[in-house]
Amino acid sequence: MKALPLALGLLAAPTAAFAQDAAPAAPAVNETFKYDKPANAPEAIETSPDGSITVQVTTDNDGRPLYAVSRRGKLIVAPSKLGFLFTDQAKLERAMRIATVAHAKSDTTWTQPWGEWRQIRSNYKEMRVRLQETSSLARAYDVVFRLQDDGVGFRYEFAAPAGSKTSIADELTEFTFAEDATAWWKPAFLWNREEYLYNKTPLSAVGTADTPVTLKLASGTHVALHEAALTDFAGMAVMKTEGNTLRAVLTPAAEGPKVVKTGAWMTPWRTLIIADDAPGLYMSHLMLNLNEPNKLGDVSWVKPGKFVGVWWNMIKGTWTWARGPRHGATTANVKTYIDFAAANRIPGVLVEGWNVGWDGDWAGGGEAMNFSQPTEDFDAAELKRYARSKKVQLIGHHETGGSPSHYESQFDSAFKYAADHDISTVKTGYVTDAAQLKRVLPDGRTIREWHEGQWMSGHYTRVLEAAAKYKVAIDTHEPIKGTGLQRTYPNWLAREGMRGMEYNAWPGKNPPEHEANIVFTRMLEGPMDFTPGVLSLKGSDDSDILSTIAKQLALYVVLYSPVQMAADTPENYARYMDAFKFIRDVPVDWEETRVLNGEVGDFVTIARKARGGRDWFLGSVTDENPRTLTVDLDFLDAGRTYVAEVYRDGPGATYATDQRHSIAIEQKRVKKGDRLTLALAPGGGQAIRFRAR
Ligand code: NOJ
Ligand code: CA
Repeated sequence: MKALPLALGLLAAPTAAFAQDAAPAAPAVNETFKYDKPANAPEAIETSPDGSITVQVTTDNDGRPLYAVSRRGKLIVAPSKLGFLFTDQAKLERAMRIATVAHAKSDTTWTQPWGEWRQIRSNYKEMRVRLQETSSLARAYDVVFRLQDDGVGFRYEFAAPAGSKTSIADELTEFTFAEDATAWWKPAFLWNREEYLYNKTPLSAVGTADTPVTLKLASGTHVALHEAALTDFAGMAVMKTEGNTLRAVLTPAAEGPKVVKTGAWMTPWRTLIIADDAPGLYMSHLMLNLNEPNKLGDVSWVKPGKFVGVWWNMIKGTWTWARGPRHGATTANVKTYIDFAAANRIPGVLVEGWNVGWDGDWAGGGEAMNFSQPTEDFDAAELKRYARSKKVQLIGHHETGGSPSHYESQFDSAFKYAADHDISTVKTGYVTDAAQLKRVLPDGRTIREWHEGQWMSGHYTRVLEAAAKYKVAIDTHEPIKGTGLQRTYPNWLAREGMRGMEYNAWPGKNPPEHEANIVFTRMLEGPMDFTPGVLSLKGSDDSDILSTIAKQLALYVVLYSPVQMAADTPENYARYMDAFKFIRDVPVDWEETRVLNGEVGDFVTIARKARGGRDWFLGSVTDENPRTLTVDLDFLDAGRTYVAEVYRDGPGATYATDQRHSIAIEQKRVKKGDRLTLALAPGGGQAIRFRAR
């Protein structure tokens, strides 16, 4: 890789032309980062459109490139290193000089086919800094910064001759925070993949963490560190090194370098959302904006919607996925769910365990899975007919058991089968421990990959492409982290990637703070198939779920997913039909979203307007503490009156006793400008439908 001309045209060009070496007019140079600019080096500084965020790039005494990020004149990321380790060439870090700097800007608005907001504004300034090695190696790369008013993304771009191979051992990008901080993080590289509770520690006590990592700096500013557009690359974790520094650690490959690229290559975007408070983090569109536009064309066949399913009884252990006397996915059971869905205007019914392959050790096995062969007691033709007659759609399920190569060998038959049976959404699964996914090489050897490694990042995309050919959308469990790729592949509806409701079926339940935690951490990745709505509040062996019933309703607004399960059984819902009415009424697709208040891990209130409708919905949840929150109904449309259908924690409600089912349901007239007081019980919540009149 010698002094190669960089292919600037390689990537989607911003709408404005690059102006070589033109520094922006009077940037707000912050006073906390002064440096001696080497003679002849161009100034590399850029600000966000409103001038609040500044990025500066310099080199240190050893020629190490450093970038720094400040907001309103205050340093957020102190000068931090860039660089790479390769397996077959020298480290790329020192002896670099800034060769050229180019600036661009763009301000456009695009439309989401489904989502939390219909319109997304993408308003950014861009700075492309070319770094040139001064040693005899004379290598070069660009680092491209995109500055929005709510954060910064940057990525590396390397030119290399077509067909040449680059072998990456690790990425040396650092994030040195200028202040101490409280950090919310979950461990990376442990056996249970993304399914760990968040830790809340000082930044100094962060170990090796999955992203997003959410930080509250000592001054109160909130930062979320993550990545965007992770395709054909290893997922980035971060590890605490010295002081306040987190350093990138790429996910290993089963064999050889962590990442191998052919020809010109670039990294995903490394992203820092910066906001005054936790709600500000959630309201950012940085990650979506850093992804490429829709590649699939017309996606009117992608259908957001609610669903029920043959699931909770299996997760609880009452029924089985495998064949036998307790098999869940029988024709009769599925008909019961279809009837319930039809009676309650719920468009989908998920069926797991419908196919051959579950008998025996499917978790970590999966080679027996056949995605086009139903079991003998699942009458696919009859269920297709029955579902059609009731205007309900079956949702398919492909559990790979951790054998993605085996799954790939069936892509065509699996998705053709789905399409032939009116199945337009498939939930997938990759149940096996971290670094145990079976990849079969062309020579027949089986090697074991990580869920977030480079090969799997390609696999998850291959699933989307294979499914799209048959107009099927995907909901991935045991996924790679979300990085906004639903913009590029709108058939990627949702994913798991965190402890969802299933953990409430088992011992070791999610604590009451879990949902208020994940809104400002995991949910920054995008939609999650959490599967809320267990109104019985009972897991296996009659164990108690640590929530009130009103909180279960609030989760439909608080935890965004375009495919939202009503996870409990029809028999259980029959006992709570008053509360269930909210689940019937709440949509899954939104015109607009506002986070009205929130603190990471403590509480959050979100209001959303139904897409294509006039009603607004509100959800508010708290941790183990009771809380009284006041919200101004500024979001309601002016000149309209609404009936607020309120589902609130009732007398004595608490997650901690058998009063968890205490709920009060009432109606009142409200209008824009009114103020509401939300009284949340310990482990409680509140859900409101604002029905426009
Ligand atoms: C784990 C998933 O999270 C769950 O939803 C699914 O039912 C099981 N795997 C079986 O695929
Ligand atoms: Ca799971």
